[in-house]
Amino acid sequence: MAAGRRCYLPIKQAMQKFGGPSKGETRVLDLGAGVGRVMQYFLSDPVTLYTSDVDETAREYIAKNFPDVHAGSNNFAPPLGFKDSFFDVVYAVSVWTHLAPELQIPWLREVKRVLKPGGIALITTIGPYGYQRGTHLQAVSFGLNELVSTGFQYSEYPPHFKSPGTGNKYGATYQTPEYLRREWSKVMQVEDIQVGVIDNLNDLVVLRKVST
Ligand SMILES: C[S@@+](CC[C@H](N)C(=O)[O-])C[C@H]1O[C@@H](n2cnc3c(N)ncnc32)[C@H](O)[C@@H]1O
Repeated sequence: MAAGRRCYLPIKQAMQKFGGPSKGETRVLDLGAGVGRVMQYFLSDPVTLYTSDVDETAREYIAKNFPDVHAGSNNFAPPLGFKDSFFDVVYAVSVWTHLAPELQIPWLREVKRVLKPGGIALITTIGPYGYQRGTHLQAVSFGLNELVSTGFQYSEYPPHFKSPGTGNKYGATYQTPEYLRREWSKVMQVEDIQVGVIDNLNDLVVLRKVST
């Protein structure tokens, strides 16, 4: 099975389990969609798809190859170009796994802003499970014990690892489920953390907007 589909399936299952508030149209944003590796599997689902990415060439690719998708772009730091309470679901695959520490919570707050009350965010992260499976370890300068004892670790990528549009701060970000529950619940309600469900590597954090 293709890796994009192995990411899509647990996200879709979480959408079905934790649901959005929508009665009619269900608006879904893939934040940091890249070229639609995961998004393409949502095309046959009854949802209205939006994408946003800092990489303009990725936006162009989506616009050209997936004409039914609302392809957009954004700057490396918030905000997004959407009004408040617009989406039922926002998901992001392998984005928070690269964001620098100072952008982690501002982006979470921005996701909350564009979610409808009751809407859900599905965000992939790397934790001790991914560390033990060797995810991105070529860029990592800390040990598993350090990750577990601190809850959060970030290693800046060397220049040749960086992606278009991501500026100077881009790296490998690891966070434990315990840390996520404590820190991310200050922004949104943490409904679930599903360890290793993303391609048997990364964790899936399920969050709900319960207040504005
Ligand atoms: C590792 S790729 C993952 C792409 C896609 N989600 C997937 O799973 O195939 C990370 C993506 O996030 C985008 N990205 C990084 N920082 C971003 C930001 N602040 N806002 C939006 N997109 C961002 C990158 O341009 C890249 O397309």
